[in-house]
Amino acid sequence: MNECTLIITGGSRGIGKSIALLFASSGYSIAIIYAGNDEKARETVEECRAFSVKAEAYKCNVASSEEVKETMAAIRKEFTGISVLVNNAGITRDGIAAMMKDEDWNDVIDTNLRGPFLMIRNTIPLFLRNKGGRIINISSVSGLMGNPGQANYSASKAGLIGLTKSIARELAQKNITCNAIAPGFIRTDMTKNLENTPLISSIPLGRMGDAEDIARTALFLASSPYITGEVIRVDGGLAM
Ligand code: NAI
Repeated sequence: MNECTLIITGGSRGIGKSIALLFASSGYSIAIIYAGNDEKARETVEECRAFSVKAEAYKCNVASSEEVKETMAAIRKEFTGISVLVNNAGITRDGIAAMMKDEDWNDVIDTNLRGPFLMIRNTIPLFLRNKGGRIINISSVSGLMGNPGQANYSASKAGLIGLTKSIARELAQKNITCNAIAPGFIRTDMTKNLENTPLISSIPLGRMGDAEDIARTALFLASSPYITGEVIRVDGGLAM
């Protein structure tokens, strides 16, 4: 059987880990890109391999053009059939706009927006060679609604939606689709302080989501050749 490979950024923990495991359980080979925690990355790789698939982790800052290029070359050597790219790596550096430091603006835009662009740019040639591919960008309801204290994050996630639609139009003729998922509040390290706050009671479904909710949507998009340029909210109704 031909190898089908998922490349996932920020795949060592949280939503990214859940996506990696669900795709592994569906038979995909998994190439994980992560920022810093070697231990967590190793654990996730082992958990993926438990599904009898190939899995490797690569430490790489997605905001660095050189690192992304080198890492993609290493992934290309190890894996064939690269068919899905999930841009999941993301950070927050919250603060009110009037007090926001330049570096907090730059770090968030670099990781959350420049990172996906660099990953897409380096993956397109592989997809073209395979005559198709699926790109899935993890945006946020913050990018749809805005959020006080998150000027940098909301801008990066709204920008990611613009990037998604441009890439979808640019590559549609090549059987490459590009879609975004906009999660609401999902239980992970990023949101561990939000449990039992009034923010959560404003969600129509009345609770936070789980990482698996996002993973299932990513797998759905990976197997949906006729959906492109779409943004799917997975938010318990928060942004309707
Ligand atoms: P997390 O903080 O648990 O995990 C983030 C992952 O991104 C980690 O694996 C980390 O190593 C990686 N990462 C961070 N900066 C990186 C860089 N420069 N280069 C490579 N990897 C890097 O986050 P979580 O909650 O799992 O979020 C995943 C994605 O979902 C993010 O893009 C986030 O913005 C988005 N999201 C999360 C929501 C939530 O409620 N948890 C809500 C809406 C969107």
